[in-house]
Amino acid sequence: MSDWIHICQLNDIPPLGARRVARASGMDVAIFRDETDGLFALLDRCPHKGGPLSQGIVLGNRVACPLHNWTIGCDGQAAAPDEGCTPSFRLKVEDGQVYLDAQELATHATTQTRPIAGPASHRAACTAS
Ligand code: FES
Repeated sequence: MSDWIHICQLNDIPPLGARRVARASGMDVAIFRDETDGLFALLDRCPHKGGPLSQGIVLGNRVACPLHNWTIGCDGQAAAPDEGCTPSFRLKVEDGQVYLDAQELATHATTQTRPIAGPASHRAACTAS
């Protein structure tokens, strides 16, 4: 059973944009809103070189990274031919209010950091804790 933490109202997230959620530990989580008001949440870290996905453009249930235009799906997977994955987070919307899973927010992917420099990793882990 999940404990949910209230984040914001649906309308606080710009259409085809994102809202960042800071965490006590780990990188921010980005909540994305598509053109049909569908939402998905990912670690705000591109699996390519760590770009801020929250600054990308939402295309359907995907987001285009603002740095090199990789496309990352709502499940965190990079679209082929690119390879990699960023952790995704569970969310729910009730009565126009957006919630994230409190346990995931506190513990999921807290060890991932934004790369400073260097070549891209071809297979960034999705299962980091
Ligand atoms: S860092 Fe996102 S596409 Fe390169």
